[in-house]
Amino acid sequence: MSPLFHTSGRATLAGALFLVHLSSLVSAQESAVVPLFDTTTKLEPPTTVDTAEALITRIGDRVRDRHARESKFKAYDHYLSFYWEQRSIHLEFVDKIARGGNEILVNIRSLTPLNEPNFRSFYRGLNTVAEYHENLIAAEVAPNHYSVKLAHHATERRPLEVGDQIEFEFSPFLASPKNGRSNYYGTTMLYVVGKGIVPWMGVGERQESIPLPESALLGGGTTISRQYSGEPAERFKQMAGNISPQSAQPFLLGRRLHHTNMLDGTHSEQPNPVFREQAGKLGPHYVARSCIACHVNNGRSLPPAPGEPMNNTVVKVASDETGTPHPRLGTALQPRSTSGVAEGSAHIQRYELIVGKYADGEEYELRKPVYEFVGTVPRFFSVRLTPQLVGLGLLEAIREHDVFALADPEDEDGDGISGRANIVVDSENNKRRLGRFGHKAGQPRLRQQIAGR
Ligand code: HEC
Repeated sequence: MSPLFHTSGRATLAGALFLVHLSSLVSAQESAVVPLFDTTTKLEPPTTVDTAEALITRIGDRVRDRHARESKFKAYDHYLSFYWEQRSIHLEFVDKIARGGNEILVNIRSLTPLNEPNFRSFYRGLNTVAEYHENLIAAEVAPNHYSVKLAHHATERRPLEVGDQIEFEFSPFLASPKNGRSNYYGTTMLYVVGKGIVPWMGVGERQESIPLPESALLGGGTTISRQYSGEPAERFKQMAGNISPQSAQPFLLGRRLHHTNMLDGTHSEQPNPVFREQAGKLGPHYVARSCIACHVNNGRSLPPAPGEPMNNTVVKVASDETGTPHPRLGTALQPRSTSGVAEGSAHIQRYELIVGKYADGEEYELRKPVYEFVGTVPRFFSVRLTPQLVGLGLLEAIREHDVFALADPEDEDGDGISGRANIVVDSENNKRRLGRFGHKAGQPRLRQQIAGR
């Protein structure tokens, strides 16, 4: 045992001082920043509520073209025209079975009246992969509010019990949409009685749904179900698997903006109407016309081939190594312009090969791009490939304390990684914040990262 734990008064005092000293070191760095969110931050209502009578689960949904398992149509994960208009749904499961009762009440709320909306449950999948044992018309209980009750296990013909797995699909048939078509399907979800909605995968010949194993939940509760519709390019464009009802509509509105060309207001997916309010916002200098033009499929960008223009990467420029803006080019090279003279451009001229050997003697080859500038040549520059955009709102919500606790600047744990927390300035109010986004976590919040581009 360490002498600090002996009962001598002096030793105990020394131990106490030592502890105080250590914790004040931690808080010195931490107290230099103002948390992005605090107790005054308005939170969205909880998605799971546990009461004496019921376990309540809430989730947002959107309209879909076809069913989850139809690989031949490739028409499930993509987004349909007018997806942002009147087409998000709130689902609420009031599970009384979880608390000793005998039914689950499903409340469905829409943004516009529905016409005999369909709640299918208990996957059958014998003749087509779109068949369910039970097809219920949700009853209208109030304007834009519908409900169904689940009490029986449709395949085992007995009352529902805790642990039963109910696959369902809610089809919101719109009564009279402002624009676009009226009949849609919804997301195929798996509800586990007494637990809530879980991401699923299919097993066996019929691809019967079972919960994804814990080890596959890379995004925890936000993980999306396995894809069977043959649309790999759509994966990074999905709402979180457990999105709250309140976030579904803002997600869809934001998605529209993300896909809008800021020069003429066109949407990257057709047919969709022009977003007139956003047209004409580009320039005079720019790199790309929409977010999605760089963040292709919300995935990582590939470097362009040698000689090709670099239109989906950012070339940061500066007049010295501390990042002082270049007098003519500013902080980023903008090779295109809507009027006036363009700033010039950069491209990969060729790759330089670097050969070397690992410690065990195995040889390796690395390729280093050599850049060439046309027009003004900055002395200092840094090329940034475009990263994937997934779950960033959640990264923004991680408590500062948890990030500081993980920092290991001197690699004391010997894992070869010396992670440092970056402290940056919030340009909206000059407060010091923890850096979270962009190169070396140089930006404190999503707004600033996006506005700074
Ligand atoms: C010209 C190409 C380009 C355009 C257009 C563009 N981005 Fe980016 N984006 C990037 C690059 C490159 C980075 C990485 C920046 C860095 O490392 O400093 C990035 C980073 C981000 C990040 C931070 C990601 C992270 O993990 O830290 C977000 C969020 C983001 N962009 C959102 C947007 C949004 C929203 C738009 C449209 C308003 C947009 N971007 C337009 C190229 C672009």
